[in-house]
Amino acid sequence: MKLFDVYPLFDVTPVQAKDVFIFDEQGVQYLDLYGGHAVISIGHAHPKYVEGITQQLNKLGFYSNAVKNPLQNELAKQLATDSGCHNYALFLCSSGAEANENALKLASFHTNKASVIAFQNSFHGRTSAAVASTDNAKIISPLNAQQKVDFHPLGDLEAVEKTLQKGETCAIIIECIQGVGGLDQSTTEFYKGLEELCKQYGSLLIADEVQSGFGRSGDFFAFQKHGITPHIISMAKGMGNGFPVGGILIHSDIKASYGLLGTTFGGNHLACAASLSVLEVLKNQDLMQNAQQMELYFRQLAEDIPQILQFKGRGLMLGLEFEFPVSKLRKTLLFKHKIFTGSSKNPNLIRILPPLTIQKEHIDAFFSALKQEL
Ligand SMILES: Cc1ncc(COP(=O)(O)O)c(C=O)c1O
Repeated sequence: MKLFDVYPLFDVTPVQAKDVFIFDEQGVQYLDLYGGHAVISIGHAHPKYVEGITQQLNKLGFYSNAVKNPLQNELAKQLATDSGCHNYALFLCSSGAEANENALKLASFHTNKASVIAFQNSFHGRTSAAVASTDNAKIISPLNAQQKVDFHPLGDLEAVEKTLQKGETCAIIIECIQGVGGLDQSTTEFYKGLEELCKQYGSLLIADEVQSGFGRSGDFFAFQKHGITPHIISMAKGMGNGFPVGGILIHSDIKASYGLLGTTFGGNHLACAASLSVLEVLKNQDLMQNAQQMELYFRQLAEDIPQILQFKGRGLMLGLEFEFPVSKLRKTLLFKHKIFTGSSKNPNLIRILPPLTIQKEHIDAFFSALKQEL
């Protein structure tokens, strides 16, 4: 049987990884500035993470959500402490799209409305309502297109209010730092404006922190820089450092009832063990502070490169925008200099999403390679 051919693949086969490095079949070392798409938060094969998952696997890997799982409660408690989001409840699932799907469904249940506001260049995943809220017509099938979604330019409060006035919007979903779209952000005034409008018109504000959450922005969640309180916060990627874990934090204004949401795999014992290890390492190694410091170092070195037109993003969710398409440059960085980087919807932008453990020497190596090729 062949694989269903949906991924254009780089000709690299990683077989091992450690911290910020990946190794292929021949033992060639690659610097990982991509983090497997912002997934690797505490570094590849972190000993605490390996130990946490291994110990749990030897005890109990999985049982269903029909029985008590104290690890879920422990994760909820730790998440509240570490994120500072105290007035929320946790629902666990297994991916970013699933997190957003549940967030949107819950918003619709809660408000009894059926339409969504999303933003241009957004990416929220590939399932039903999540993909319909994603600004990419190519990945929305006719089935998905039945969902009612209004897309507005990032920053345009007037357009948002006009749509809200129709009284049909269950939720506004937003990435406070756009990932796939190309690292655009709006102003605190705009995010606060959305919060206010949601209150005024009885809609819910969903912060999609699937990519930016779990410390990647330098704060636990990217929305926290703007002092807003979303009704629902969706998470995944860095949450499990590669183990498929996702979840939503749900504000206490929204009430649960049996059967409202559900999943077989979400919140299983292994997933909780993975995420608890991630939280422990994030805290013990001060990785959010490292993300802030490494952003400053990235900025400093980028300033010396005239070909970089714009430095975008925050923490270790960064974008370097050039005046030319970067696909050839990214291939050279990968195959000649053995450095993984990311792409985005913007063809001129290199995306930098390394493990949060990255150090100055790794950033030096990247800029030295970049300078040689420009
Ligand atoms: C902001 C954001 N939301 C949702 C998703 C979807 O996550 P997943 O691929 O785990 O379904 C992604 C994936 O890139 C993302 O960047």
